Amino acid sequence: MNYTILKPQQFGRVGLLTLSRPASLNALNSVFFSELIDYLDYILTDEPFDVLVITGEGKAFAAGADISEMVGLDPNGARRFSERGQQTFLMLEDLPIPVIAAINGYALGGGCELCMACDIRLASFNAIFGQPEVNLGLVPGYAGTQRLSRLIGLGGALKWILSGLNMDAREAYRIGLVQDLSEPEKLIEDALTLARRIATRGLKAVRTAKMLLRKGIDMNFQKALDMEKEHFAELFNDEGIEGMKAFLEKRKPSWENNK
Ligand code: CAA
Repeated sequence: MNYTILKPQQFGRVGLLTLSRPASLNALNSVFFSELIDYLDYILTDEPFDVLVITGEGKAFAAGADISEMVGLDPNGARRFSERGQQTFLMLEDLPIPVIAAINGYALGGGCELCMACDIRLASFNAIFGQPEVNLGLVPGYAGTQRLSRLIGLGGALKWILSGLNMDAREAYRIGLVQDLSEPEKLIEDALTLARRIATRGLKAVRTAKMLLRKGIDMNFQKALDMEKEHFAELFNDEGIEGMKAFLEKRKPSWENNK
């Protein structure tokens, strides 16, 4: 598939995906979703790299779902529209590899929901976050009502979603929505550095850890502990033994990705 909005790049074992429709502040339209689904399928099938970074070109990460597409929908169309976005972001969240959002500017509405479906959020100091849907007489429709409360707690999510106010990057960092802040010109470098660090760790361990955290949060606690125990044990047939031996022998583990 030839992409018109997505610009994929690869740097060794790290992928960088840039949303590039800057004249519309990377508003998420149906072409974007078709391209993203195609790209996620490619990652699942070919496993071309071990960590993905997502960013936006211009002054936005993404300024939300494309309002000019939404305005023509009736309730049935809107239900399908919401479902497509929800399912695509679930597919992104469920990727076996870690995904880092490098948020360069506006991350509003669907754009904030996109970064919340990523595993780690790094933002530049000039990023702006918010779920402004109530200003349009709407509610978030790409899982914002569910992911924001899981990330920052119910009280904070209620405050931001009910008010439709925007927050700056420092506030997003203070409340734990983003994990780190960078100077705008260093954001991509910082995100790629973190991605490269992750890509040199025990890769089976990294994928297992992501899965345990992601699945466990919605599970019964004891069941989640049982799941952790089983996966902890599994790594003792594998790269865990090599990692521990390497530590004791004061050398680097000889994992394929670490040579
Ligand atoms: N959908 C469609 N087009 C959008 C857009 C969006 N979400 N956001 C920005 N654009 C377009 C503008 O219409 C404008 O296009 P034209 O030049 O053709 O007029 C272009 O991008 C530049 O935008 P502005 O001129 O508005 O730029 P600004 O710097 O003055 O303002 C902004 C920036 C504050 C982000 C403002 O664009 C804005 O408020 N955008 C809408 C944000 C929003 O409400 N997002 C939520 C959408 S609803 C949603 O996402 C629902 C869901 O959960 C599924």
